[in-house]
Amino acid sequence: MADIKQELWQKARNLTKKLTLDEKLGMIHGAELFRTKGVERLNIPPLTMSDGPMGVRQDFQPDKWIAIGNTDDYVTYLPCNSALAATWNRKLAEEEGSVLGAEARGRGKDIILGPGINLKRSPLCGRNFEYFSEDPFLTGEMAIPFVQGVQRWDVAACVKHMAVNNQETERLWMEVEIDDQVLRDLYLPAFHEALIKGGAYSVMGAYNKLYGEHCCESQYLLNEILDKEWGYDGVVVSDWGGVHDTQAAANSRLDLEMSVTSDFDEYCLALPLKRAIEEGRVSQERVDEKVTRILMLMTRLHMMDGDRKTGAYNTEEHRRTALNVARESVVLLKNDKGRLPLPSRGIKKVLVVGDNGNRVHSNGGGSAEIKALYEITPLMGIRKLLGGNVKVDYVKGYDSGSKKEDSEVNWQESSLQDGGKGTNMGSCPGQSRELEMMQEALRREALEMAAGYDQVIFVGGLNHDQDCEGNDRADMRLPYGQDRLIKELLLARPDTVVVMEAGSPVEMEEWIGMADSLVWAWYGGMEGGTALAEVLYGQVNPSGHLPESFYKTHKDCSAHCVGEFGNKDFVKYREGMYVGYRYLDAYHIEPRFCFGHGLSYTTFSYHGGRVVTEGEDTFLSCLVTNTGSRKGAEVVQVYVRPVGEEEGASGLFQELRGFEKVFLKPGETQMVFVKLQGDLEGARIAVGSSSRDIRILL
Ligand code: BGC
Repeated sequence: MADIKQELWQKARNLTKKLTLDEKLGMIHGAELFRTKGVERLNIPPLTMSDGPMGVRQDFQPDKWIAIGNTDDYVTYLPCNSALAATWNRKLAEEEGSVLGAEARGRGKDIILGPGINLKRSPLCGRNFEYFSEDPFLTGEMAIPFVQGVQRWDVAACVKHMAVNNQETERLWMEVEIDDQVLRDLYLPAFHEALIKGGAYSVMGAYNKLYGEHCCESQYLLNEILDKEWGYDGVVVSDWGGVHDTQAAANSRLDLEMSVTSDFDEYCLALPLKRAIEEGRVSQERVDEKVTRILMLMTRLHMMDGDRKTGAYNTEEHRRTALNVARESVVLLKNDKGRLPLPSRGIKKVLVVGDNGNRVHSNGGGSAEIKALYEITPLMGIRKLLGGNVKVDYVKGYDSGSKKEDSEVNWQESSLQDGGKGTNMGSCPGQSRELEMMQEALRREALEMAAGYDQVIFVGGLNHDQDCEGNDRADMRLPYGQDRLIKELLLARPDTVVVMEAGSPVEMEEWIGMADSLVWAWYGGMEGGTALAEVLYGQVNPSGHLPESFYKTHKDCSAHCVGEFGNKDFVKYREGMYVGYRYLDAYHIEPRFCFGHGLSYTTFSYHGGRVVTEGEDTFLSCLVTNTGSRKGAEVVQVYVRPVGEEEGASGLFQELRGFEKVFLKPGETQMVFVKLQGDLEGARIAVGSSSRDIRILL
């Protein structure tokens, strides 16, 4: 292995020596918004990039954030990373990654800007939908196969944003204050896994600062940790506009500077760097190292040897993968009276209420926006499934203001203006009297109609006006007066099925006690509506589990009640390791729904349980039986607990160290082996269906 790497390096090094300084500089900064310069005389192609991560983004003009508007850049729209994480299925992560890689290659891209793997430190971060989980182990375990899936297609995954990019407010300038050990134990492991174990060929630096340095030019993060400690040899790409200082960037382990403006020659690693080299302020060797690594990446992707995979996009198979992931991502949060699945026979009229019931989400969210080939909404999914003999009516129930029919073309261009401020927006945009009256009329209409239907399904939640790059939410409250509508609907029709689509949890306290059934559907990709309908009507048995804690209110989240969030300058991560369920468990705080929670239409029982060692590896083995009458899948989760945790000692917390998803027919029993990570010395092992539904304690 070391020899192959050495050979790769040497070959790239020899080619670097043949280049002029101008040619080299052309390779280490953007010459277009998503492309570098190649060197034609030596057959070195430019590098072409695209966002990520829910599909391959539409094409923009080379120097303007104006979509070209072709009809050939519609793509497969994949479930967001939070949805993917909710499947707890590594195979699906590989398959989703593979679709993304194939489509990127099919569209002629070299680097796809994803996956996003920042930890969900707070439920209010606007980009949470692009991220996997609050837990580093789950994030890493899903990111590894995702990256490998992408790279099967001779396309580089670009894992982003390293590191501690956990809020959008003032994302370009804010500085994270964090204990070094916490950084290493909580926020960096998933990056290590994705880059070193997963072998991602590239990584994107974060906008924010860490220990006084911008992450994209950080000596500590990039040179000390990534390069020296981890021995990473892939390409480090800046976030767009994340580089500020020529000398700092040149001397850091950053390889490629990208930005959002069209003054390409003025990028730090363009003419300013040339001047710095000529004046002896920066050694040319720094440039050579960067170019060498870029050439290594090109070799890895077979960009110069004519032996490269071609990829494909919008295939039948890709759409099937999108559907499979969506199916397993849906989380059944509550089903108290066994109301779900709903009968699809013997009914005549179904009412779907709520803006998300009939809304497409693919075209929003910021750089993760997708020009989807199509997107099945919940309403269409339900109509498709029930067919022509059932009348499915739709009523909005509330208004969500402006609908983004098309992508905002100039959003990114202005993202650096005024210091690139992200905003901290309210969850409930100021309700004018006029708007209030409209909401009331819509609510009344829905309530009046609800009485006359066999089934009422409410589909609400958030949309990309809240789950959006550049913005954080002010709280977890549902926007557009949904609480009131849901409450009144449940009073009128206690059998209303509540469905939420969102990338982050929302407050449900006002009505959760009244709702028997609650389904969480994320942003489920182009087939999200199909999958949701299949779950509601029992064609698919739900098997998603929460990859994050659903707090009752954001005030129960440690980032808010112990640490800081949303500050403009310094953000102190005072909560340390106590993030997500670690905090809730250690301080005995009840979440609304705990980390790992997810119900099924069948039931599972656990038996036995022992720790077995095989060579270097340790496994937990146990028997799991499907005790119900439907086939289903269980996510067997293994937590490691310090002794004393069960006695309620404060400050101690369990950690997820292993999981396996098992698929069982009715009555079937399987022996499950869960590989465990890390040290088990003196710890107890808790095995269960969620972090709080423990079935075996060793
Ligand atoms: C985002 C990145 C994205 C890049 C290119 C930035 O604003 O933070 O995630 O990949 O733009 O669109």
